[in-house]
Amino acid sequence: MRVILYTGKGGVGKTTLSAATAVAAARAGHRTIVMSIDAAHSLSDSLDVPLSHTPTRVEDRLDALEIDVHHELTQNWSVISGYLKKFLSAQGYEEVVAEELAVLPGMEELFSLLKLLEFSRSGEYDTAIIDCAPTGSTLQFLAFSDVIEWYMTRFFDLERKFVKAMKPIAERIIKAPLPTDDVFFSVEGIYERIMAVKTLLSDPLNASVRLVVNPEKMVIAESRRAYLALSLFGFPVDCVIANRLLPKEASKGYFSEWRKTQKLHLETINEFFEPVPVKTCRLFNGEVIGLDGLALLGEDVFGDQDPADVFHDDQPFSITADNGGFEMNIKLPGVRKDQVDLWTKEDELIITVDGRRRNLLLPRALKGRAVKSAKVEHDRIRILFGREG
Ligand SMILES: Nc1ncnc2c1ncn2[C@@H]1O[C@H](COP(=O)(O)OP(=O)(O)OP(=O)(O)O)[C@@H](O)[C@H]1O
Ligand SMILES: [Mg+2]
Repeated sequence: MRVILYTGKGGVGKTTLSAATAVAAARAGHRTIVMSIDAAHSLSDSLDVPLSHTPTRVEDRLDALEIDVHHELTQNWSVISGYLKKFLSAQGYEEVVAEELAVLPGMEELFSLLKLLEFSRSGEYDTAIIDCAPTGSTLQFLAFSDVIEWYMTRFFDLERKFVKAMKPIAERIIKAPLPTDDVFFSVEGIYERIMAVKTLLSDPLNASVRLVVNPEKMVIAESRRAYLALSLFGFPVDCVIANRLLPKEASKGYFSEWRKTQKLHLETINEFFEPVPVKTCRLFNGEVIGLDGLALLGEDVFGDQDPADVFHDDQPFSITADNGGFEMNIKLPGVRKDQVDLWTKEDELIITVDGRRRNLLLPRALKGRAVKSAKVEHDRIRILFGREG
C-alpha cells in the first residue's frame, strides 16, 4: 500500500491537498483511503461529505475517515497510562496533573497512524493519504517512536526482570505500585506495532511525506526546518507543493507586488529543495470545497501525472560497507557544520542538529566500531566507522 503524508505549517493547504490528491488518485483507478489525524478535523468540510471515525464511501474507489485521536489513544494506552497515573499519584501528583503527564507529546498522532497497519494488512486499499496536523506535532511523533525504541531496547527487559524479582520489597520502599505483567504485555504490543508503522513510513519506495508551503518567508523557514528534521529521522520526502500561487491575471493591479514577491520566494523554494521536485498550485478564485473543485485543484498540481507516483527517490539515511568499515550517510539539507554535534555512547549514536536530537541505536554491524571521521558535505553527513575491535 502506497502511503502519502501531507504536512506543513498551519493553514497552508494540507487538508485541501490531501483531499485533492485522494480524489485524483481514486479517479486514476487506485483504491484510495484518505484519513485525517489532526484532532482539529476539516477533511469532512473539504470533501463536503459527513465523515466519522470509520471509513465512509465518498465516491467510487474512495473512502475517507477522521480518526478519533482520543479514542485511539485511550484504546492503545489505557493499561499503561492507568499504571502511570497510579504511579504519579503515589508520588504526590494531583490526579489531573498525573492524567496530563501520562500522555506524552506526539502520542496522539502516533497512535492514530497505527490504523495504517490495519489498512495495509487488509489489502483493501492501494493508496492511503494522511492529512497530518501542522508541522510541530508531526515532528514530535517522529521523535516519539525513537524514544520508545530507545526505552524498549535499553530498559524493558531489565525492568521486567527487576520488577519480577523485587516487586514485594520494592513496593514497600518506593511506596508506589510497580507495573504488573499486563502493563508489560501492553507496552510490548504497542512497541511492535509502532516499529511496524515506522518501517512502513521509512520505505522510500512506498511511503512519502509531501511538504506543503506557501511562497512566504516564514512558511519557507518552517518548512526548511521540517525537511531537516524529517531527514534526520529518516522519513523520505518525494515532493514539495507550493500552494496559493497568484495566477498571471494578478500581474496587474492590486496584487502585482504580491505576485512578484511570490516569484522570488518560489525560486528560493526550488533552490533549497533541489533535487526534490517542487509542484505548484494556483490560488483558486474561491474556496475549494467538494469533489469536483478538489479534482480541478488536483489537475492543477499533478497535470496528467499519477498523483500516487513516487516523484523523488529520497534516501535520507543509508549504511554501506566501506573498505572493511562502514559509512553511515544522513541527509541534512541546508545544515551548517557548526549546527551538528555528534557523539557515540556504547551502542548508540547521538546526533544533535539545530537543537533537535536523535538517539540512534546502532545496528548490530556497527556496534563496537569507533567513529573514524564525520564530515558534513553536500547537505549530508558522512560518518565513517572503522574496523571492528
Ligand atoms: N489553492 C487554493 N486556492 C484557493 N483556496 C485554497 C487553496 N488552498 C487552500 N485553500 C483554502 O484555504 C483554506 C485553508 O486550507 P486548508 O484547510 O487545506 O489548510 P490546512 O493547512 O489544512 O490548515 P490547518 O493547519 O488549519 O489544518 C481552505 O478554506 C481552503 O479551501
Ligand atoms: Mg487541515
